[in-house]
Amino acid sequence: MKDKLLKLKDKIIKAVAEASDLSELEAVEVTSLGRKSEFSQAMKELGGLSEGERREIGRLANEIKQEIDTAVDQRRLELQQAKFASLADQDRIDVTVPGIEPPKGHLHLTTQAIDDIVGIFSRLGFTRVKHPEVEWDWFTFESLNMPPDHPARDEWETFFVNAPTHRKLGKMVLTPHTTSGSARELKKGRLPIRMINISKTYRRQIDVSHTPMFHQFEGLLVDRGVTVTHLKGVLDHFAREFFGPDRRTRLRPFHFRFTEPSFEVDISCGICSGTGHLESGSKCRLCKEGWLELGGAGMLHPNVLKAGGVDPDEYSALAFGWGVERTMMMCSGIMVDDIRVLYRSDFRFLNQF
Ligand code: PHE
Repeated sequence: MKDKLLKLKDKIIKAVAEASDLSELEAVEVTSLGRKSEFSQAMKELGGLSEGERREIGRLANEIKQEIDTAVDQRRLELQQAKFASLADQDRIDVTVPGIEPPKGHLHLTTQAIDDIVGIFSRLGFTRVKHPEVEWDWFTFESLNMPPDHPARDEWETFFVNAPTHRKLGKMVLTPHTTSGSARELKKGRLPIRMINISKTYRRQIDVSHTPMFHQFEGLLVDRGVTVTHLKGVLDHFAREFFGPDRRTRLRPFHFRFTEPSFEVDISCGICSGTGHLESGSKCRLCKEGWLELGGAGMLHPNVLKAGGVDPDEYSALAFGWGVERTMMMCSGIMVDDIRVLYRSDFRFLNQF
């Protein structure tokens, strides 16, 4: 029995030493010491021996097992070291080779325009604010002097959210314009106000010149003695800063329920400098008459101030709200025949800006 065990030990230790990689070593370990191994088989025979022999052989078996374990551990270490050593040879990294710069990307052109707009108004003391894009009917329409069922609401092509109606604030909508943010700003009760609210707006329109999601920027200035002259001054300043030093704005009478008076704002055409014709005498093909339409503006209606808890006899307010995409495209002269390309995530288009 003793001889048998010692022979077995020599055989196993030899096999361990000959294992040429880690998986082979593991296989040797399993076949030589595992439950079905010769070694385990021999151990089962211990039961048939006398007590003295059993103790002696048992001790020997333990020593052999330890010896084998040590041999396996040592061989494993050798094999691991050999593996790492060869790795260093095969996978050399030359840290002095110049780096590969990962592609950097850039902001979407709408985001770039938003940054520019915020910069211009913040230099005039307007603070950018954020208001919900999922909004109640009351802020969107009712507080803006558009009672339920008023036909003017139709112009806003609103998405209604399938949610329970609020007892006082009515239905839930996706903001079709940023003027709801002005209603919320008034409600805060902190006067005077000089805010610029830029956010996503949603309307049920999709075609070459409309995306169902677009952005608006809305300016609101509430203070004592604010007049149309201030409105014109702010708009002219914006036009010069955003479009260029020789651009002017023009206010055209218009109608909104929430402003009185109301205007459409035009900007002088950059191609023909507001004249409507080129030096050659031919008609300007971009604007045809010297002006391009930007968006709406006006002085807040007294009912809107009242709904916001502001006394219209003491305070007045100028407001304007325009589409970011439209304003941006007019500035850059980007001509696309389908505005939806802005939000198609097509890098061939976006990478140009
Ligand atoms: N909210 C209006 C629109 O979406 C624009 C506007 C804003 C007009 C503020 C006047 C004052 O068309």
